[in-house]
Amino acid sequence: MTFTMRGVLSLACLILSLGLVERVASFDLTRNDNLAVYWGQDSSGNQKSLASYCQDSTIDVFPIAFLYIFRGTGGEPVIDFANTCNQWDQGTFSGTDLANCTSMAKDIKTCQAAGKLVTLSLGGATGQVGFSSDSQAQSFADQVWNLFLGGSSSIRPFGDAVLDGVDLDIESGTPAHYAAFVNRIRSNAGETTLNATSFALNVTAHANATLHANTTHGHANATTTHADKAKNTTTVIDVTNKNKYYYITAAPQCPYPDAYIGAALNDAPFDAVYVQFYNNYCGLDQPSDYNLATWDTWAKTKSANKKVKVYIGAPGSADSAGEGYVDVGTLADYVADAQAKYSSFGGVMLWDASTAHDNARFDLGIKNAMTASALKLTPEQLPRSNTTTAAAPAKSSQASGRKATPGKPRAYSRFFRL
Ligand SMILES: *[C@@H]1O[C@H](CO)[C@@H](O)[C@H](O)[C@H]1NC(C)=O
Ligand SMILES: *[C@@H]1O[C@H](CO)[C@@H](O)[C@H](O)[C@H]1NC(C)=O
Ligand SMILES: *[C@@H]1O[C@H](CO)[C@@H](O)[C@H](O)[C@H]1NC(C)=O
Ligand SMILES: *[C@@H]1O[C@H](CO)[C@@H](O)[C@H](O)[C@H]1NC(C)=O
Ligand SMILES: *[C@@H]1O[C@H](CO)[C@@H](O)[C@H](O)[C@H]1NC(C)=O
Ligand SMILES: *[C@@H]1O[C@H](CO)[C@@H](O)[C@H](O)[C@H]1NC(C)=O
Repeated sequence: MTFTMRGVLSLACLILSLGLVERVASFDLTRNDNLAVYWGQDSSGNQKSLASYCQDSTIDVFPIAFLYIFRGTGGEPVIDFANTCNQWDQGTFSGTDLANCTSMAKDIKTCQAAGKLVTLSLGGATGQVGFSSDSQAQSFADQVWNLFLGGSSSIRPFGDAVLDGVDLDIESGTPAHYAAFVNRIRSNAGETTLNATSFALNVTAHANATLHANTTHGHANATTTHADKAKNTTTVIDVTNKNKYYYITAAPQCPYPDAYIGAALNDAPFDAVYVQFYNNYCGLDQPSDYNLATWDTWAKTKSANKKVKVYIGAPGSADSAGEGYVDVGTLADYVADAQAKYSSFGGVMLWDASTAHDNARFDLGIKNAMTASALKLTPEQLPRSNTTTAAAPAKSSQASGRKATPGKPRAYSRFFRL
């Protein structure tokens, strides 16, 4: 019995490990043609369910916005995804203002199964955020870990769906102690010395070791069968998410250094920064002051992670930012220039999914341009598979695109500032 259980457990471990390898292979942080698109704030007034934006290979990462109050009623944070899930329409967990968004779990898993990352963005324009000490930041990191990432809690807003990391869009409060927050998430995730690439290698090595151990214990046939099954599936979801790499990103504004998150970017390792080149003098509409070069230098000389990826953040439509919108062709020129000049360049970030989608598929336009220019520059780089994902049809009744009831507070982002 004991022996059988151990066998079952190590088999499960192996399958999960292989599953993770598949997952990590789907999203590749080292590329320079990734597309990260914010979802959740319904900038167009016509926001569809998350899964409806996951049905093709256009978007690679969805930071979902926002967790906008760190310490709300009952000491729990507050989240708001406009017409899809909020505390008024979907209800909250008892004694808190934390919305019960378990209705979104299926969509999150659908997008993850298509090889995309879904992360939680913290902050936004109406954010009530900040820490008074490192220990407060660390205990908030534990809360976020338990509610949304690899930990556990009886009040997880997305139920058993496990997000792929966090994004810091901090624009209010004090800038102190965010490095302690980031480092605590990293230590909870077992990532203190590993980046996405080395973490994946480590997991593969672990899977190989487990395979070897099972073989020497006379379980070679069963192991092989399960391993083959796992390999046979194009994407295997790591159901317990025990071996997942959690990504940490930030969305600084282009004026360098960023007033709110700038210090943390130097003190703790981030995977990527989505620099907002809009609503500012250094935006895409101001070519003479556009400063991606400064951010590339920061990445290589000042950042805690010298391999951090820098994205060009852009509005998805003329209406989605006060200023800084440029058309797809102009943005594609910025991208081609960045791919040629800056090894830190990771791709494009758009605010937001609803506006980009309704703006003649601005998201698809920039993705195709970005992939083509990357390939021209580095022909040996394999193009990613361009297939339509068989995403489950969005069933959520909250995803009907109906407008939010007027008068309710909304966590609008500064992205939307006019
Ligand atoms: C994939 O290929 C099709 C057909 O060539 C094209 O229409 C589409 O825009 C491509 N890109 C993505 C990201 O799906
Ligand atoms: C959360 O909402 C789901 C329906 O989406 C419901 O089944 C579940 O009981 C709710 N959980 C709590 C703790 O209220
Ligand atoms: C794991 O095993 C596979 C096949 O046996 C091999 O190709 C791969 O290099 C190994 N990976 C590691 C990290 O040892
Ligand atoms: C594994 O091999 C043993 C002995 O050769 C056999 O009895 C068992 O049925 C096999 N199991 C599978 C799943 O093939
Ligand atoms: C692999 O998938 C194919 C098609 O779904 C199936 O026919 C085959 O039996 C699978 N092989 C294994 C080893 O599970
Ligand atoms: C990850 O870490 C390894 C080992 O420290 C290093 O060689 C590699 O360049 C890093 N890669 C990235 C993408 O950060």
